[in-house]
Amino acid sequence: MEKKLVISKIKEGTVIDHINAGKALLVLKILGIGPESRERVSMVMNVPSGKMGKKDIVKVEGKFIGEEELNKIALIAPKATINLIKDYEVQKKFKVTLPEMIEGILRCPNGNCITNSREPIAPKFRVFLERDNVVAKCYYCGRKIKEVDRFIV
Ligand code: CTP
Ligand code: ZN
Repeated sequence: MEKKLVISKIKEGTVIDHINAGKALLVLKILGIGPESRERVSMVMNVPSGKMGKKDIVKVEGKFIGEEELNKIALIAPKATINLIKDYEVQKKFKVTLPEMIEGILRCPNGNCITNSREPIAPKFRVFLERDNVVAKCYYCGRKIKEVDRFIV
């Protein structure tokens, strides 16, 4: 008998697949899924994947998360695939695309940046790829972040 890892299919909702191994918790954070959330959420970390070696998967039931919100995931999981599920079938499948600008997810590491002052200015970053790595640059002070994981709030 073939030994196969089975994760339940869902009836309706959003499946985020091909997340870089270990990043599922950050994906939940980016999507604002936490103690207050009411949706049924399941997650697996470090499962074998043909293309990626190991990967994480997140399933949010009963909710179709918007494309703009989902694209923010590209910050930490540029290869993530989104599957919108209806009646157990994949209705729509797409890859996340890195937004040009990110607001409110990253904090600026520069203590002197206006976004860290008393001014009510939300952090804003230009986002781009540099040798296949996601890099963010503060819109206000120009500080560059190479390890975006560490500055997600
Ligand atoms: N999925 C699910 N519930 C469903 C249908 C699909 O949770 N009712 C999940 C699958 O477990 C998988 C993802 O959605 O993680 C994509 O499903 P599918 O397109 O059927 O799988 P693959 O062909 O393997 O996807 P890909 O080609 O993107 O690797
Ligand atoms: Zn800054």
